[in-house]
Amino acid sequence: MLLELRGVSQRFGGLQAVADLSMTVAPGSIHGLIGPNGAGKSTVFNLITGVIPLTAGEILFKRERISGLRSAEICRRGIARTFQATALFREYTVLQNVLVGAHRLAAPGLGPALLWSASYRERERRARERGHALLKSLGLGAVASQVAGQLPNRDQKALALAMALATGAELVILDEPLAGLTDQEKAETTAVLRRLREQSLTVLLVEHDMKAVMGVCDTVTVLDHGVRIAEGTPREIQTNAAVIEAYLGAEEPGA
Ligand SMILES: Nc1ncnc2c1ncn2[C@@H]1O[C@H](COP(=O)(O)OP(=O)(O)OP(=O)(O)O)[C@@H](O)[C@H]1O
Ligand SMILES: [Mg+2]
Repeated sequence: MLLELRGVSQRFGGLQAVADLSMTVAPGSIHGLIGPNGAGKSTVFNLITGVIPLTAGEILFKRERISGLRSAEICRRGIARTFQATALFREYTVLQNVLVGAHRLAAPGLGPALLWSASYRERERRARERGHALLKSLGLGAVASQVAGQLPNRDQKALALAMALATGAELVILDEPLAGLTDQEKAETTAVLRRLREQSLTVLLVEHDMKAVMGVCDTVTVLDHGVRIAEGTPREIQTNAAVIEAYLGAEEPGA
């Protein structure tokens, strides 16, 4: 298993946001994490990526414990994420944003003199090349030199994904990558996710668009009030009584 959560819990004051959650994510899969609003999905992402410390349990990545490590270290080990609200450097160009993503992994502690060495310039050149290739693969080749903050929503979301991929991550964690997109843009984005899977990347996906989730995921885990109520293939999940019940009791049945 690439990622394993063992009895993970998170309590915010009196609220049990995640309760004794165990789940595994298989390498090379697209794994969906779904549930009604407030079910604890984003909290699970924050726990995996070390944004908040867990109250109980442990998380393993490639069989090594990552819970307790700092975010930057978890990222360095190969987990990258996008946020529910797109986070990018609005004044930077698209390419600069991707290079920032790639540089998160740059070796620390290099003296300023090294910055101008031939090997640094060569690395920089290769990073730009890889950045361009990545942008092209996500349909952003034409806007590489545009300022990120002025891009349409669809392109900003694609850029957030590019930044996550630029870290060289093996596991990419995406929080609502389809929110606010048109049907056409959703289809394009899910096609990108399938291509990532073909390249042996693993994707953990929170998404409210059930049609997209069921169409693209290999496995789906369902949370309700922080509790795992079901897990299985999209077909199994769609006919699961507990899942139907959870969604019927929520504001947006089936979303
Ligand atoms: N930092 C925090 N402090 C206190 N409570 C929090 C915090 N973060 C989340 N919560 C609460 O934890 C619960 C789970 O929230 P979370 O954001 O994980 O849900 P979600 O499944 O991502 O929902 P949505 O689909 O609306 O994004 C909610 O009741 C939320 O209000
Ligand atoms: Mg959320």
